[in-house]
Amino acid sequence: METSYSPILKDPKSASEHNLGEYSGFAADFSLNSAESELDWLPNGGLNIAYEAIDRHCKTNRQYKKALIWEGKAGETESYTFEDLRLLTNKFANVLQNLGLSKGDRVFTFMERLPEIYITAFGTLKAGCIIGPLFSAFGPDPVKDRLENSGATVLVTQPELRARIAEILPSLPELKHIIVVNKFGRAENPLVENDLEWSDLMNLASDEFNSIETSRDDYSIMHYTSGTTGKPKGAVHRHNSVIQQYITGKWVLDLRPDDVYWCTADPGWVTGTSYGMVAPWTNGVTQIVYEGGFSARKWYDIIQQYGVTVWYTAPTAIRMLMKQGADLPKSYDLSSLRYTASVGEPLNPEAVVWGINAIGMPIHDNWWQTETGAIMIANYPSMDIRPGSMGKPLPGINVGIIDEEGNEKPVGEGGNLAVQPGWPSMFQAYWQDSERYDSRFKQGWYLTGDEAYKDEDGYYWFVGRSDDVINTAGHLVGPFEVESALIEHPAVAEAGVIGKPDPIAMEVVKAFVSLKEGYEASDSLRRDITGFVRTKLAAAVAPREIEIIDSLPKTRSGKIMRRLLKARELGLPEGDTSTLEED
Ligand code: PRX
Repeated sequence: METSYSPILKDPKSASEHNLGEYSGFAADFSLNSAESELDWLPNGGLNIAYEAIDRHCKTNRQYKKALIWEGKAGETESYTFEDLRLLTNKFANVLQNLGLSKGDRVFTFMERLPEIYITAFGTLKAGCIIGPLFSAFGPDPVKDRLENSGATVLVTQPELRARIAEILPSLPELKHIIVVNKFGRAENPLVENDLEWSDLMNLASDEFNSIETSRDDYSIMHYTSGTTGKPKGAVHRHNSVIQQYITGKWVLDLRPDDVYWCTADPGWVTGTSYGMVAPWTNGVTQIVYEGGFSARKWYDIIQQYGVTVWYTAPTAIRMLMKQGADLPKSYDLSSLRYTASVGEPLNPEAVVWGINAIGMPIHDNWWQTETGAIMIANYPSMDIRPGSMGKPLPGINVGIIDEEGNEKPVGEGGNLAVQPGWPSMFQAYWQDSERYDSRFKQGWYLTGDEAYKDEDGYYWFVGRSDDVINTAGHLVGPFEVESALIEHPAVAEAGVIGKPDPIAMEVVKAFVSLKEGYEASDSLRRDITGFVRTKLAAAVAPREIEIIDSLPKTRSGKIMRRLLKARELGLPEGDTSTLEED
């Protein structure tokens, strides 16, 4: 085992490419070294997330411990030991090899929270391929963009979802195989010509597999994330991320061997993989997966029924629970709960306090992003919570509040939240978009796109986004993606999309559209446009409100001024409009 190796970027080229300056000093105080010695390295210093999360335990007394307890929407249950997962993921890795996939190929899932999504993800990692999970509520457009951009060779899906995106599949030449999971035969007559059936493939595959050798630098997972402009970008991670996901599971989520852990995030988003797959299983913990969506009663019931001890959820969900009152949780036995944490949006101070009254403990907020791969700033179990604050940086992670020149700002002053590159779970690329990747690094900092300030005790406080990206119920939505879908409607000439503040979802997507000649604004047209984008995108991403206006404010160069639309919507000062196009 290699313990002297620093988790700093192995490839010195990428460090110098970003002109990171004083690198060695940073490496020296990188406390995440301790996580390296707790993980089990493959011969020759190799690293594979699937080995760390699953196979490693099968050499210990955790071999027959339950890793996954799954409850389906219809109340079905299944459970899997680490040994079960080892054998099933071996089988799936063989399936991929039998289909001719090799290292670096992309395997995507478009599935609800079924056990097969976990088997696919870790089997893919064992085979040295890259896993890309897609959010199951997406409509055809977002799925097409992501499969096309990633050049995925295999898609693992289920009959109902396959049917939803049937129209886009023929236009994806790189997609060679569609594997369909027909769980419990829920869908009748599911197989479309040339599709492969999950159970057929798995039955034929051997459960012996020698993992493909992967290094810490080999790519492991990609999640698409939205920016202000252009289509979503595929943030690519490497196996090395496991170091930080493991240690934050332990230090921030306080995972201990006997815990029953529940992460409510969907694997289509980064929390659902980093903390719904890797962190709990590398820590050898039993986790609950519930296939269904939000329901206050059902959620409390899950905690009670399975004796959940550690719960990781999101502010929107907490606000929805708060709406149901503090009496409802009191009618359940939630005494198993020991620790609760939240991520994805600012957690209101009232929510922290509500936790104390309703579930007997405060909720610990923490901050990170798709690009950071793991928790970066947190309220730790060992420290006093400051309600409303994201907490303090992980030991060894250097966070700064900087101005436009990259200089650190004084305590108490707001600025760009930035991180010194080199943390173990740092994203390694935006898939085939090195220009966009490089643009996130300036003056030796990674720019997060968030604004924040630090108080005199070193706690960080979120202020807002520094771009037009919308955060609705913890999902980042790029306005461009929604605008592109809107202008495909025959009546829509132009579209501008903003985030409108909302007491539950933090923001909802609001669209302003202008109409083409010959179309009249009416309620029925508005409803038609709403329905149209909803089927293309996903209810979570599509505009909640659409307003038809005569024309959209644009700069002289023709760019839609979303900030002005937002200011007008909120009745705020319009700011600098000197670049506004004259009518
Ligand atoms: O704006 C911040 C917000 O969510 C963004 C990251 O979103 P995403 O890449 O989808 O990853 C979500 C899972 C971590 C951040 O740039 N955000 C995340 N956590 C917090 C937050 N905003 C305020 N407080 C938080 N704790």
